[in-house]
Amino acid sequence: MGHYSDSRDLQGIEIYRDAERLAQAVADHFVRLARQAVANNGRFAVALAGGSTPRAAYTLLARDEFATRVDWSHVHVFWGDERCVPADHAGSNYRMAREALLDRVPLPPENVHRIRGELEPAKAAAEYESALRAFFSPSAEDRQANGKTHVTRFDLILLGMGDDGHTASLFPGTAAISEHTRWVMPNFVEKLDTWRVTLTSAVINAAANVTFVVSGSGKAERLRQVVTGPYQPDALPAQLVNPDRGRLRWLADEGAAALLKGG
Ligand code: 6PG
Repeated sequence: MGHYSDSRDLQGIEIYRDAERLAQAVADHFVRLARQAVANNGRFAVALAGGSTPRAAYTLLARDEFATRVDWSHVHVFWGDERCVPADHAGSNYRMAREALLDRVPLPPENVHRIRGELEPAKAAAEYESALRAFFSPSAEDRQANGKTHVTRFDLILLGMGDDGHTASLFPGTAAISEHTRWVMPNFVEKLDTWRVTLTSAVINAAANVTFVVSGSGKAERLRQVVTGPYQPDALPAQLVNPDRGRLRWLADEGAAALLKGG
């Protein structure tokens, strides 16, 4: 456990008393993985979750108590998904993270790799995929040095979960769920009548650490289904997340965990 050990573990889920302690745990988790990655590999590549839950953690992360423990010059920030809106739109995941965190820490602008939601969805997805592949593919000297081409991976992908069991912008019954080769897809979400751009399960499951952050009693039934119910990823896309070699963590508050056995 990190800084905030007032959690209990249930079915592999770390449960925190309330949303504030959950946010503190997420901020601490981010710092620990960032320090580890920078020390080991010289950089920390993280994909942020969107939505509203992570905002509290990002805000905390910007405070000296956490921010001064991270070498931001070696941090590279990406997103797990983005709404197809301009960067200054109220619904932009980039804007949320920029306001809560990025504008408050010494992160070099060139280390911010946003999905350009203002572009036509397919173009935004193609551009982001190219950026990811360029970032994670070894340079020529890397190849020379170690003689093998290794495609590195995200050190951490933070994910939220919707009350319908979606994660990133992998929504139930949408096309992106069945994409297992491409890393990024444009995805039309009928129920929202909107386009999104999302990482696919292929790149999520290649990450070294994938951490869900789930808060609130409104998610309790779905969390129970996702974690303990039958495997039905088309209906519960969060179940697609099963890292090949990386570590999967669930961080939840008591409200979200209320329906887990012994919850
Ligand atoms: C988004 C997110 C999405 C989010 C869930 C949970 O773009 O909305 O990436 O996957 O994490 O919908 O959202 P809340 O945290 O707002 O409940």
